[in-house]
Amino acid sequence: MFSERTNWRLAQNRFTQAVEEARTRGAKILDLSASNPTRVGLQYDSAAILSALRSERALDYDPQAKGLLTAREAVAHYYRDVSSAALDPEKIVLTASTSEGYSYVFRLLCNGGDELLVPKPSYPLFEFLADLQDVRLVPYPLIYDHGWQMDFHSMEKAVTSRTRGVVIVHPNNPTGSYVKPPEFEPLNEFCRSHGLALIVDEVFLDYGMDGMPHSSFVRNEHVLTFTLSGLSKISALPQMKVAWIVTSGPDEPVSAAMARLEVIADTYLSMNAPVQWAVPTLLEQRSEIQRQLMDRVKTNLKELDRQLAGQKSCQRLQVEGGWYAVLRVPVTRSDEDLAIELVLEKSVLVHPGHFYDFETDGYLVLSLIPEREEFQIGVCGVLEYLKS
Ligand SMILES: Cc1ncc(COP(=O)(O)O)c(C=O)c1O
Repeated sequence: MFSERTNWRLAQNRFTQAVEEARTRGAKILDLSASNPTRVGLQYDSAAILSALRSERALDYDPQAKGLLTAREAVAHYYRDVSSAALDPEKIVLTASTSEGYSYVFRLLCNGGDELLVPKPSYPLFEFLADLQDVRLVPYPLIYDHGWQMDFHSMEKAVTSRTRGVVIVHPNNPTGSYVKPPEFEPLNEFCRSHGLALIVDEVFLDYGMDGMPHSSFVRNEHVLTFTLSGLSKISALPQMKVAWIVTSGPDEPVSAAMARLEVIADTYLSMNAPVQWAVPTLLEQRSEIQRQLMDRVKTNLKELDRQLAGQKSCQRLQVEGGWYAVLRVPVTRSDEDLAIELVLEKSVLVHPGHFYDFETDGYLVLSLIPEREEFQIGVCGVLEYLKS
């Protein structure tokens, strides 16, 4: 009765079962996998946020396929501020989430069975997005050598006649690595020579750890580029369901892409009016909430380093940006077994590396946004367990 594309293994995995078991036992779980910013004790300006959602203008229904112009102009202003980019709001399409943005772009570029190159390790949602759009994902490895780097040699080998685009996560989740300035040119050349589009996820762009502004791909004019981002990370407001696709590149493919994207967006009209009118205010919230988050991430990273300095068995990999740290741990059992033991024995929840498709065992992924005390005690639990 059902489509093959939804033939997923839906049974709980062993890790999820272990988390449930620990919770059923009544254990207070220290959640070092937390990624929901609305539940980690940040101070939001609730009055400003709620009053922005109460605009009288939301009583009018004005179905604009790309989203209301005021909201798209606010997105363009954001890029002027963070990347000195002068964006035409007509090249912006609003979506309810970055995931929805991915699905529009996958649908735009790919026939069933076409391929997209995706980084490995990276974010686990891609697989479901690709299944739903009948797209085949072909991983290209990121190499760790005193920092993460793209490996153009492997990317060349991964291209086939069915490849349509390259997905870049800038900075990547969970490796926290940005595309480096010397990689921009070879990346464009790679896409140009194979006729591929770039799909760039920049949800964590603003969370750089070195205090330097990192260039957004919205300014990339060399090849057809779709830059995806949204309020879920920029303003730490995932519940508002506001994201966007910015299209850039040579004029001809950009116009053709925009005309088609507009039809895709018009078919769903998924943006609601109250939130679109609120976008300028919700984007303004970013400066204060990013300040709090950066403070949290840096404090937790410092605490992690302090505790790591007292032992020798594990190290953390370099973090350039984002909300996560990757720990290299001894390979005495699978990452999944280790994460299960940590939750059952220490009540500490961390993600095993294999969730993110790390090449081998020996990696744990820790969120850096939990509240400080929870993070500190949680890390202590992990390191104690690894010592025992
Ligand atoms: C790299 C990356 N892209 C996209 C998303 C999802 O964003 P959205 O909530 O806008 O769909 C996440 C969520 O964690 C993410 O880590």
